[in-house]
Amino acid sequence: MFGGRHRHERHGLHSGRKLSSENLQLVILALLEKGGSHGYELIKSLEDLSDGFYVPSPGMIYPALTYLEELGYAEVEVDGSKKRYRLTSPGLQHLNENRTQTEQVLRDLEQIGSRMADARRALEGEEQEDGEGPDVDGLRGIRNELRGILRGRRPDRPEESDRIAGILRSAISAIREGRPARFESDVDVLFHAIQNRRSMGLSKLRSDPVDRNLIERMLESANWAPSNEDTEPWRFAVFSGEGRKVLADLFADAVQSKSGGDDAALAREGATKRAYASPVWIAIGMTPKLKEDGSLLMTEEEELMAVACAVQNLHLMASAMGLAGMWHSKGLSVNKAVAEGLGWSAPSRLVGFFMCGWPSTAWPAGERGPLAEKVRWIDSCR
Ligand SMILES: Cc1cc2nc3c(=O)[nH]c(=O)nc-3n(C[C@H](O)[C@H](O)[C@H](O)COP(=O)(O)O)c2cc1C
Repeated sequence: MFGGRHRHERHGLHSGRKLSSENLQLVILALLEKGGSHGYELIKSLEDLSDGFYVPSPGMIYPALTYLEELGYAEVEVDGSKKRYRLTSPGLQHLNENRTQTEQVLRDLEQIGSRMADARRALEGEEQEDGEGPDVDGLRGIRNELRGILRGRRPDRPEESDRIAGILRSAISAIREGRPARFESDVDVLFHAIQNRRSMGLSKLRSDPVDRNLIERMLESANWAPSNEDTEPWRFAVFSGEGRKVLADLFADAVQSKSGGDDAALAREGATKRAYASPVWIAIGMTPKLKEDGSLLMTEEEELMAVACAVQNLHLMASAMGLAGMWHSKGLSVNKAVAEGLGWSAPSRLVGFFMCGWPSTAWPAGERGPLAEKVRWIDSCR
């Protein structure tokens, strides 16, 4: 009964998807009012009405029909091997007397049916309306889809829950911060780029030239490095093509000043050869920011750390584009005369060269010692 319904009888349904026999009888009479029906057609009508939620078994329907027949509320007509039931006048009268209750049960069945349909659509990731009117911002469908996915998804492994939580957290912070979303796949791509950045020296570079726009991308990436107090101390000088003659002379002059006689000529020749051994050389400089009195704003270490970040960015971008390269920081690459030739006298410094070209060998595999030996976790106070 609907008056004073118990919690478990919401929608006129007992727990276990059952109608009380009284309500079932009224519903059957209401269906018979629409036309004569076979028992199985009644079952089907109830199933359709409740969108699959309420499917009485033949073991419930046929005894109810027999009872209604006994009461004189329904009459039976044999239709081949089946029985066809019809509403009688006393049946109609009984229905009219209980019309409100009957309609309430039918409404409840229909409502639970549409709720079931919504839930099912949500579980299937289909769009489900969560409000009235048009989906102006296009977000309603997404909201419902997400709700459906989260409702229907019960990850069986903790890693899967972590994965879903990670994706959603990253999307949430992107929305909050008003920046583009970084999805799992992007993170994987980034990690792959980091892990596959390799140092490949002169012997691993082809002599083919490298497009200037690729080098520009590398430099642009370098320029996005962090620096304390935004000093941006990184400086670059790029030598390529014929421009390498300038570098060859810088290298040659630097070695010649240290050697004499035949040695000097040989050294000059070697230095020149070196300059042409890479299609691109990027001289890496550090120019610290100075206070008005000429002293350093930040320490030299901090400025060097920022330059290292810039070179890492540059190298990552090179590797990501398939370009081989290496930061070289010995001998001529940090030579004082070369630095001065490049205009990087103290307090500026020349901190090396990045040689760069297309790889002439297979991409080498990297190797690292265990992280555990380099990390200590302090995550409790005991
Ligand atoms: C600041 C710095 C200076 C480097 N200088 C040299 C160098 O003078 N000669 C050299 O062969 N490699 C040099 N390298 C490259 C390292 O040898 C290389 O990074 C290391 O072996 C790890 O290999 P990977 O970069 O392929 O992971 C330098 C790397 C860094 C970060």
